[in-house]
Amino acid sequence: MLDPIQALVQCVRQELLPGLHLESLDPHHPVVVHRVPVPWRCLGAGNYAAVFMHPDYPEQVVKVYAPGRPGIEAEVEVYRRLANHPAFSQCYVSEAPFLVLKRLHGVTLYDCLHRGIAIPPQVIYDIDAALDYVRSRGLFPHDVHGRNVMQAKGRGLVVDVSDFLNAQPCRAWQDVKRAYWWIYRPLFLPLGLPIPYALLDGVRSGYRLFRRLTGGGLR
Ligand SMILES: Nc1ncnc2c1ncn2[C@@H]1O[C@H](COP(=O)(O)OP(=O)(O)OP(=O)(O)O)[C@@H](O)[C@H]1O
Ligand SMILES: [Mg+2]
Repeated sequence: MLDPIQALVQCVRQELLPGLHLESLDPHHPVVVHRVPVPWRCLGAGNYAAVFMHPDYPEQVVKVYAPGRPGIEAEVEVYRRLANHPAFSQCYVSEAPFLVLKRLHGVTLYDCLHRGIAIPPQVIYDIDAALDYVRSRGLFPHDVHGRNVMQAKGRGLVVDVSDFLNAQPCRAWQDVKRAYWWIYRPLFLPLGLPIPYALLDGVRSGYRLFRRLTGGGLR
């Protein structure tokens, strides 16, 4: 008998990868998922990889790097150093181009804004504490933006650790926090207003341009 993780890996090799069509057109925009075999479901896409789940394995996800996008070995090393901490996922298997990770049952802060789900301050405090832990393990919080952090049951989680070996300074989380305290908490939290994706993506592009013009580091 195969253990569940090994059974999932077989399923990835035999069903997911052969039927999957992923493309990264631009390293600054999310990977495009053209085709996903039934019954797999795409849970999200970042600029380097897309993440899938199979209904028979609800506690794991499979992160598949798009062709030509590096970083899988670095992500494995980060998970090795983070060991087992409740604010992060864990890496069970690495077999390029995919990783099997623990599923985090949360909603990204980006999706919370879009869906009008309230983000309480505790979520921000939890992520701050998680990032202190990251530093204590000799790693560097990097690229911590709204799609890379989640809330689940009112607590904060960090869903993407892939760039935490990158020692270059990164202001992303400082800027998210500033926007949280100055804009979100006084204006949006009390009203519970959903924010359209077009506006969120406009802010994302504007932020990227602002950081480039002011010389800030971005992945
Ligand atoms: N362990 C997980 N459990 C549940 N959902 C996840 C998990 N890991 C990733 N996701 C979802 O998939 C999305 C993309 O994953 P991830 O951020 O790791 O990709 P990436 O390409 O490394 O991102 P980036 O562009 O920030 O480098 C996340 O925003 C999140 O919605
Ligand atoms: Mg990401």
